[in-house]
Amino acid sequence: MKDKMIASLPAEYPFRDTLYWFNTIDSTNNYLKQLALNGAPEGTAVIAEQQTGGRGRMGRSFFSPAGKGLYLSFLLRPDCSAGALMHLTCAGAVAVCDAIKEVTGTRPGIKWTNDLILNGKKLGGILTELSTDSNGNVKYAIMGIGINCLHTQEDFPPELKEMATSLKIANLQGNPAILACAILQRLAKLCQTLLTDKAVLMDAYRSDCITLGMDIQWTKDDAIYAGKALDIDADGGLVVLSNSGKTETISTGEVSVRGMYGYL
Ligand code: BTN
Repeated sequence: MKDKMIASLPAEYPFRDTLYWFNTIDSTNNYLKQLALNGAPEGTAVIAEQQTGGRGRMGRSFFSPAGKGLYLSFLLRPDCSAGALMHLTCAGAVAVCDAIKEVTGTRPGIKWTNDLILNGKKLGGILTELSTDSNGNVKYAIMGIGINCLHTQEDFPPELKEMATSLKIANLQGNPAILACAILQRLAKLCQTLLTDKAVLMDAYRSDCITLGMDIQWTKDDAIYAGKALDIDADGGLVVLSNSGKTETISTGEVSVRGMYGYL
């Protein structure tokens, strides 16, 4: 699979010499973090055919069975403060949607902030991890991308069966190597545009975000709130109107969308 993918990368792809491929690894994000700490350059990428400790947001695990999914981590080294990079996950999600659309002809949606959605179910997710220096400047950023490609419904464990899908289940082209190739090219481009084209990237995110306009629930300080998702701000925060009439912006945590993942 590795040779096939490297052969399909166009000659102008700038990072082909810093591409690491594993049959099995605990987590591509963990491995890339070690490389980053040892000075790996921007564009270094780690791909695995299986993860034994794949991680998602909020301390969750990411189901990563052998030969079924794409598990990819990509290193960025933007010259900016952490505060200027709040939109990174959103920009990455749009890049992945672009790549999936290019490969399959179908564009997934994004459930705020980082879930890729196809036919109302979770197709994958993005886990970005930042390291900063004592002045708050970014030392490195890791974008970890997991996509369910070749899973059948039976491949998912009971707790995921109802909420997860794959490209194969949707009858779409699901070859992980082809998808990796398309995503890497989009991420290479994102290295150039991340800081200069923030408004354009966030407009694209707003068009892909299926959470907007929906009835939602969120938790804050152990309380559950309900309301409507109104907008995404310039940094990727979700602007919501609670049922009690208060407008606020949520920047972290879990937001449930009515009609998805069992929220009725
Ligand atoms: C989520 O659903 O909350 C994010 C999932 C991110 C999974 C990817 S797979 C490649 C990379 N390595 C990890 O351990 N996690 C990310």
